[in-house]
Amino acid sequence: MRLDKFLGDHNIGTRKQIKEYVKNGRCSVNGNPVLKADIHIDENSDEISFDGKVLSYSKNHYYMLNKPVGVVSATFDKKQKTVIDIFKDENVKGLNPCGRLDIDTEGLLLLTDDGELIHRLLSPKKHVDKTYEVHISHELSDDDIKLLEEGVDIGDKNDDGSKKLTLPSKISFKEGSERDENGNPVILLTIHEGRFHQVKRMLEAVGNEVLFLKRLSMGSLLLDPELNPGEYRELTTEEKRALNIK
Ligand code: URA
Repeated sequence: MRLDKFLGDHNIGTRKQIKEYVKNGRCSVNGNPVLKADIHIDENSDEISFDGKVLSYSKNHYYMLNKPVGVVSATFDKKQKTVIDIFKDENVKGLNPCGRLDIDTEGLLLLTDDGELIHRLLSPKKHVDKTYEVHISHELSDDDIKLLEEGVDIGDKNDDGSKKLTLPSKISFKEGSERDENGNPVILLTIHEGRFHQVKRMLEAVGNEVLFLKRLSMGSLLLDPELNPGEYRELTTEEKRALNIK
């Protein structure tokens, strides 16, 4: 692969900045300083250093997408645009969305070709926290909040036929923006599971309605506020480290 692509994958800078940094002697390949960013390197065997620090090459790809409304969280769909269509320029084989957001839900979606990570984040046993910004049709009463936080019946059943209540969740409010531009109440809801249409069904269970839904976080990963709907970027080294990616 080209050296500038390798450095770009490590979020060193833009292509233009990288060209300049390399020209200024900040990069070396196998201990030898290089001055041109368009040379080809072998990312699996060459040792690339930047400012004296060795950069390791991850064979997997990790992207954060701010999923726009109107796109399905699937790899293929006969009729609708998929999240994978957004990534067609990346030409990454085996890219998969880590979980699903409904077609009318916006926000954080991790896409990767690392099946082990997807399995780890989606495993029901792991209870990875997911926080959503939820715009609702009317204000929640204290009783509604208590019910939602303690566990509510959304129609699911356990194997023995008993009601499968949702796990305890947490409701909070966005300081200074407890209503959206249409005057509808906005809450932050953190859940620890990922059942089908879970947030919508939870609000429905207390007689409310979700008007707009946006995922803000998943485990340690927070939606980058710089990403507009439809935009994506690679995860930073810190974000990968926090997710325990080797
Ligand atoms: N809960 C929902 O109802 N929809 C989503 O897209 C995500 C969580």
